[in-house]
Amino acid sequence: MPRAHRRTALLTASVVAVPLLLTGPAPATAAPPRDEAGPGADQLLVIGHRGASGYRPEHTLASYELAARMGADYIEPDVVSTSDGVLVARHENEISGTTDVAERPEFADRRRTKTIDGVELTGWFTEDFTLAELRTLRAVERLPDIREENTLYDGLYDVPTLDEVLELRAELSRELRREVGVYIETKHPTYFDSIDLSLEEPLVEDLDEAELDRRNAPVFVQSFETANLRELDEVVDVPLVQLLSATGAPADLVASGDPRTYADLSTAEGLAGIGEYADGVGPEKAQVIPREADGTLGEPTSFVADAHAADLLVHPYTFRNENEFLPAELRDPGEEPGDYGRAIEEQLVFWETGIDGIFTDNPDTGVVSRDLFQD
Ligand code: G3P
Ligand code: CA
Repeated sequence: MPRAHRRTALLTASVVAVPLLLTGPAPATAAPPRDEAGPGADQLLVIGHRGASGYRPEHTLASYELAARMGADYIEPDVVSTSDGVLVARHENEISGTTDVAERPEFADRRRTKTIDGVELTGWFTEDFTLAELRTLRAVERLPDIREENTLYDGLYDVPTLDEVLELRAELSRELRREVGVYIETKHPTYFDSIDLSLEEPLVEDLDEAELDRRNAPVFVQSFETANLRELDEVVDVPLVQLLSATGAPADLVASGDPRTYADLSTAEGLAGIGEYADGVGPEKAQVIPREADGTLGEPTSFVADAHAADLLVHPYTFRNENEFLPAELRDPGEEPGDYGRAIEEQLVFWETGIDGIFTDNPDTGVVSRDLFQD
């Protein structure tokens, strides 16, 4: 069945036993064809955000492995650089929140204050550690108050290299007998360029070594910046995804004096421009369905239709099970922020808007909601 027709059928068949919250008609729009893209080209994608970070410390091999075993179509490493130019998986280059570095006396003198993308930060930074030094650290849970169970695994895992993530991806693909995809985000590329640790060259090298630089490879490359994606569009064949935000502006545009913000890039005209170099967009959830002043879900915007009109896939971020992150009407009243609310209902409402995939910390929940929607 052609993709556009299949999507119409999915929307028609999506009246499930779970109460849905949309009051108006779903803005059904045809997603762009992805005949040449990787696994999941003809299906709605569940992307394991930082692995299965709802259940394990983020960006560890254990987190990625669990995500794949839970059925995630893609695992999502964010990458930054070590001082010796090796790409490692961390959400940001300041690592005091996700490793035990602050407890290591041998690295006490590495504490620095730096300005990264206009924000002053004090802590320990990957670019001040060789890979060998970084490998002596141990990962810890970023959100111990909300995800106390994950602290069970503090100290068990190290910081993986991108190479290792790609090897794990290949091993799991063989074992699970399906292509597990990898959805790589370059973090702070303009900053890393400024300290002569450009991320793009080692990224391309790692993809080449893993034989993954091809149009139908199980890979997306994503970034909150624009210039590096435009450059990558000239040198790699894998699909590219422009990340967007409900606030602020891309750091590369700010650095070059370009006044455009994420809001500008998220208009129909802005999305058409993104369509010149990217295959998809990763909006913040609120750009697809904003929240009202009381924290409940509002009405869907035209974002999905505008992106599809520009031949862009739409993969919003980030879906999480806990009350803390859910719309007000889907939280369990009287429960703790870390207790689970009605996350599946939230995801069903978003699937109804016509999105093509979701980033989620809880891939098992994402698979359930996706399958409910499709059945
Ligand atoms: O890459 C999609 C999503 O992960 C973007 O947000 O900050 O979690 O990397 P962040
Ligand atoms: Ca990310």
